[in-house]
Amino acid sequence: MRYYVNVDHVATVREARHTDEPDPVRAAVLVELAGAHGITVHLREDRRHVSERDVRLLMETVRTGVNLELAAATDVLDIACDLKPMQATLVPESREEVTTEGGLSLGDGAVRTATREAVERLSAAGIRTALFVDPDEKTLEVSAEIGVTAVELHTGEYANATQGRERDAQLTRLRGAAETAAGLGLAVHAGHGLTYENVIPVAAIALIEELNIGHSVVSRAVLVGMERAVREMGALIHQARSGVALF
Ligand code: PXP
Repeated sequence: MRYYVNVDHVATVREARHTDEPDPVRAAVLVELAGAHGITVHLREDRRHVSERDVRLLMETVRTGVNLELAAATDVLDIACDLKPMQATLVPESREEVTTEGGLSLGDGAVRTATREAVERLSAAGIRTALFVDPDEKTLEVSAEIGVTAVELHTGEYANATQGRERDAQLTRLRGAAETAAGLGLAVHAGHGLTYENVIPVAAIALIEELNIGHSVVSRAVLVGMERAVREMGALIHQARSGVALF
């Protein structure tokens, strides 16, 4: 299991004051020292938190790997193809949203075409590709048909499910989607809305090989420090896989 930490939220605090601290590049160093397997950043078209400077410096300093989240839009695709991160995860974007709200709407012909072209461009540049999608069978079939390497299953609905029965249903949905995706030859990632309280059942799904977690880790880091926050989440993921609690 790979565990990547999304440092966008460090940049969000910086941009609250339009200043130069806290720096997501410095945060990424601590994240790596605490044992995460990679750094995830979302370069949004409106540059509301992460900037091109951040991504360029991360590419120079990160020793694990950068998973760059981006929309299928020309300017960010140009940057990705120039910088060649280890992985690019295509996500939907809308200016009004506070955070990525749903997976890619691959049922929409225009979205499907833009996504296919983006995957082709990124793959031609030698970048591993992933699509952020809702855990639905049809969407996974279209993803496989597009030729992407991996899908990141959107765990937001699972995270938002407050009742035990609804959460179980969402977990069953995620398990089924992981099986479908793997059966289609897709590598399976997951993320969004995962916290210290809800991560274990998702991390226990053996077919999931990568988790992307941001807000909850950065929120805890404000109180306990980045290294401890990253390590505590890593310990829960380890516990989910091994049954052994590290703390
Ligand atoms: N995966 C994707 C594709 C995302 O867009 C985000 C949010 O930026 C995350 C994972 C991490 O979500 P969260 O910050 O809720 O942990």
